[in-house]
Amino acid sequence: MRRPFARALAGALTLVAGAAVAPLAQAPTAAADSVVIGGQPVKVADSPWVVALASRDRFGGIRDGQFCGGVLVAPTTVVTAAHCLGRQVLGGPVDSVADFRVITGRTELRAPDGREIAVRAARVNPAYDPGTNAGDLAVLELAEAVPADHVLPMAGDGHPGYEAGTGAAVYGWGDTSGFGDYAYGLRAAQVTVLDDEVCRRAYPGNSDGQYRADSMVCAGDRSGGKDACQGDSGGPLVARGRLIGLVSWGRGCGRADSPGVYTRIAPLIDFVSGLQRGGRPSGV
Ligand code: ARG
Repeated sequence: MRRPFARALAGALTLVAGAAVAPLAQAPTAAADSVVIGGQPVKVADSPWVVALASRDRFGGIRDGQFCGGVLVAPTTVVTAAHCLGRQVLGGPVDSVADFRVITGRTELRAPDGREIAVRAARVNPAYDPGTNAGDLAVLELAEAVPADHVLPMAGDGHPGYEAGTGAAVYGWGDTSGFGDYAYGLRAAQVTVLDDEVCRRAYPGNSDGQYRADSMVCAGDRSGGKDACQGDSGGPLVARGRLIGLVSWGRGCGRADSPGVYTRIAPLIDFVSGLQRGGRPSGV
């Protein structure tokens, strides 16, 4: 019953991301017969820093109310996409995160494993621009800490993971087909970090959105079929053992000419770690 609602949400998320939804009439691409898009099931035990962001109040109990992904970067700090919290998406002010739960240690959303942790405070990157989707990152402060070895380090400038041609993996519980087939189990797809010039050509700034190399990184697969999709937003793009991006936006899902666009982590490390050091996130 909640499914259409979830799908409507996915649509809204795409709009916020400034990307057009692929028209249904369009011929299915390689993505349609691959089942994140073109990924395979993975266990959260092997990637304990991946979390699901959920609200049963807003999105129902199905799939535990999962609506976005996130990443543990410190024992009480999760980063996710700013558009996952935006009032445009959730129909309310960003300060109402009291119903949010961060689900850790649960590969399969129907299983009782792992923990659900409340969010004590949230802060959206002040430089986030919902119009262009630049700087699409928010920080959630958890009410309880996870073990220190559950965190993924962020990749600073100069980390080799940002180099074009680097293999990367994207994780999530989102749509596996581009047609609203949301996953119950965590999946990961292997993608390649693309050259900024390729990303710019794919998104030159028309109605589908504009790639900005200073705040975004793009990744995909030469022949398409491997990508993040709706519901994966805020989840990690990992290269060489570090977090380089957060799922942010794209045109359709898994199309060869339309790589996935991710929030570039390096320019936001100071913002994220500044909050950790004592500048408490606020806003609940
Ligand atoms: N904005 C979407 C979400 O909120 C993520 C879309 C990613 N799309 C892509 N083709 N990589 O879940």
